[in-house]
Amino acid sequence: MTGENPALAARGVSKSFDGRSALKGVDFEVGPGEVVALIGPNGAGKTTLLSILAGIAEPDSGEVAGDGVAWVPQQAALYRRLSVQENLLLFARLQHDAGQTDENPSLMVKRMLDLTGLAERAADRVGTLSGGNQQRVNIAIGLMAGPSVLLLDEPSVGLDPAQRERLWGFVLDLVREGTAVAFSTHDIQEAERYAERIVAVAEGEGIFSGTADELRQAVEAGGARSEDLETSFLAFLRERGH
Ligand SMILES: Nc1ncnc2c1ncn2[C@@H]1O[C@H](COP(=O)(O)OP(=O)(O)O)[C@@H](O)[C@H]1O
Ligand SMILES: [Mg+2]
Repeated sequence: MTGENPALAARGVSKSFDGRSALKGVDFEVGPGEVVALIGPNGAGKTTLLSILAGIAEPDSGEVAGDGVAWVPQQAALYRRLSVQENLLLFARLQHDAGQTDENPSLMVKRMLDLTGLAERAADRVGTLSGGNQQRVNIAIGLMAGPSVLLLDEPSVGLDPAQRERLWGFVLDLVREGTAVAFSTHDIQEAERYAERIVAVAEGEGIFSGTADELRQAVEAGGARSEDLETSFLAFLRERGH
């Protein structure tokens, strides 16, 4: 994204935990309506970066600019014994009382049930839903404040391929309505399939930003030619000492 007005941007963001560096001067941006994948091995700093972008963690240095951001954590903070509708109403009231939205909570719940295709499951306990539908409830809560950027941390972990495809169908509908999305994944195929741009991090450093084709070219330029992008990317990481 080279536009001059990103919806969300991090510049030179660094963060340490107990003296150990988790992010080392990372730049990251999401353009209006753009879909960006954040890839990298476990421990690379993906969750740390997304949580800083979401404003729920403070960087030690660097800047974050942008507002209207919604954070969808990997672990849904849902009440499994309450119904879908009860969970949504609880969060709608909290957000309403916190001044994050003016919308009447009951109307908000109805709108979110329709938007997420969960109206038929409204009375079901969240704990009985599939992982994909639980993730929808989680996303619905993130959408309540009408964000311009949705940050999804490993949204498809634990979903089978069909559930994953349905979840992405839903997320891409939101994108068509104008919401930008940044998501983390360690699945490079998922990044290639759904993102317009890929950002790679390893050991807290930003090591690549571009399209999947550009990543393939970068990987091959390093001599790490292989049939599939994932194998090539691993070789690319090794070449850089990761
Ligand atoms: N709250 C925390 N306290 C201590 N260390 C943390 C904390 N959060 C993350 N880390 C460390 O920061 C590094 C990056 O973690 P994380 O951002 O979760 O990576 P990823 O999401 O890419 O797997 C890891 O070494 C991890 O152990
Ligand atoms: Mg993570």
